[in-house]
Amino acid sequence: MSWELWDEVDRYTAGLLVGEDEILAGALAAGVEAGLPPIAVSPNQGKLLHLLARIHGASRILELGTLGGYSTIWMARALPGDGRLVTLELDPAYAAVAGASIERAGLSERVQIRVGPAADSLRALLQEGVERFDMVFIDADKQSTPEYFALALELCRAGGIIVVDNVVRDGAVADPASADTGAQGMRRFLELAAAEPRVSATTIQTVGSKGYDGFVLALLDA
Ligand code: SAH
Ligand code: DHB
Ligand code: MG
Repeated sequence: MSWELWDEVDRYTAGLLVGEDEILAGALAAGVEAGLPPIAVSPNQGKLLHLLARIHGASRILELGTLGGYSTIWMARALPGDGRLVTLELDPAYAAVAGASIERAGLSERVQIRVGPAADSLRALLQEGVERFDMVFIDADKQSTPEYFALALELCRAGGIIVVDNVVRDGAVADPASADTGAQGMRRFLELAAAEPRVSATTIQTVGSKGYDGFVLALLDA
């Protein structure tokens, strides 16, 4: 089976069910225009994040890794009117592109972008005693995922969910000797999640327009 086939099926199924509109397509186009890397979640994955937020009734969402705001818009659209999403981005230029797309989506009131290293922003949120989040999406630099997960556990409410993207990385995650620092980060994250008694989790492998990868879905005990 080939990447071309996975891509074709992704396009076919997303065309029927996902409902990507001109705002979301425009967010991707703005990213291309500004030279951002084309690494946003796929439309099918964005819709999954949106559905998870709705199924969970999330009114407070935390995202690590904004890029151009594509996944941000998918999740923010799942919020109730008084819901809030905080998204963390290292690169101020990326954050500016995301901010403009979030504005065009009419979501500026609900979304706060914090610029800087995600670990610093997470510690600042803890320091500020921010209200805990119902859902956390971890999708920033992959080697720091163990640290992000540990901090996310402190920022997520009991009964909250944590989704971690890019866990499988072409299968590199199963190779203890992998030279991919991202895959090594994911291995340490998986070991951390396995050792955390409050966490119940599963790993789902995916194929599609983004190749072969996967995500972890974790539930914090209520
Ligand atoms: N969630 C986005 C994709 C994020 S790509 C979507 O699906 O639409 C990963 C993002 O993490 C990039 O924008 C990158 O600049 C950002 N990033 C990398 N290192 C970071 C760090 N230390 N702190 C915060 N963000 C970081
Ligand atoms: C990369 C980052 C992502 O979040 C992703 O989904 C795919 C690739 C990357 O940094 O290469
Ligand atoms: Mg990702």
